[in-house]
Amino acid sequence: MKKLLVTGSGGLIGSEAVAFFAAESAKVHGVDNNLRADFFGAPGDTSWNTKRLQQEHRNFHPHELDIRNRAAVLDLIEQIRPDAIIHTAAQPGHDLAASRPFDDFDVNAGGTLNLSAAARQWCREAPFVHMSTNKVYGDGPNRLNLVEQETRWDYADPEFAAGIKERFPIDQCLHSLFGASQVAADVMVQEYGRYFQMPTCCLRGGCLTGPNHSGVELHGFLSYLIKCNLERNASRPASPESLLGPGDDRNCSALHQICCRLS
Ligand SMILES: NC(=O)c1ccc[n+]([C@@H]2O[C@H](COP(=O)([O-])OP(=O)(O)OC[C@H]3O[C@@H](n4cnc5c(N)ncnc54)[C@H](O)[C@@H]3O)[C@@H](O)[C@H]2O)c1
Repeated sequence: MKKLLVTGSGGLIGSEAVAFFAAESAKVHGVDNNLRADFFGAPGDTSWNTKRLQQEHRNFHPHELDIRNRAAVLDLIEQIRPDAIIHTAAQPGHDLAASRPFDDFDVNAGGTLNLSAAARQWCREAPFVHMSTNKVYGDGPNRLNLVEQETRWDYADPEFAAGIKERFPIDQCLHSLFGASQVAADVMVQEYGRYFQMPTCCLRGGCLTGPNHSGVELHGFLSYLIKCNLERNASRPASPESLLGPGDDRNCSALHQICCRLS
């Protein structure tokens, strides 16, 4: 039976990856210390999701561990020696990074380095997939011209018909502190791949959603929007504009598509 390690296993993307691979009969180890509740308060709590996964998948084994704890990460990976690692544990919010820059950088950049170094030591042949973000491009894509279609906005230049390419510049733009810590993590994972010839990969997601997000105002836009509407008078539903301000149009991707890419 294949052994998989999923970090951030209680979160939106991690929990979907756990369910996807557990259903394919892999033995799935999860790492999550519910730091999302500390970042965003009670509505950000992800422990319910970890419990749900435990009830639904007997081959899921959660570990309450902080990826900032270098020694504990090393110990766990030595113990498990996974066949593959999917790394989704993170501080995911722009505004939170501005108010807690050290926590943001320690989790996103430091935690990713701890995992990469432990993988190199104990399972260097195992694919290491880092769930990165399109925020590594900062506000650079905002300079591209857009055209309004009937249901969505598209880039005017056909070069970007399939989205922003990996070669798109990441310099000379505004990232937010969160974007900067994500760049550090992304580049570090790439570097472990190139420098140490390890099978690493970064997937830069856009706006993702799914039914198991602990959505809050500062992160998890669609989940938060739906929650607000459920809590409001149904005859006065909230619009994205009323919650997030005008001009906040986003294209969202369903998580199942992401898991197919992960596999
Ligand atoms: N949700 C999106 O729309 C989206 C889009 C693109 C990229 N991403 C990226 O994917 C990654 C995961 O995003 P998500 O939406 O699943 O976030 P999430 O907050 O739902 O999940 C992250 C999980 O990691 C856990 N965690 C945080 N710090 C930890 C630590 N120090 N040790 C152990 N566990 C810790 C949290 O408790 C949480 O359960 C992030 O890097 C994010 O930037 C997300």
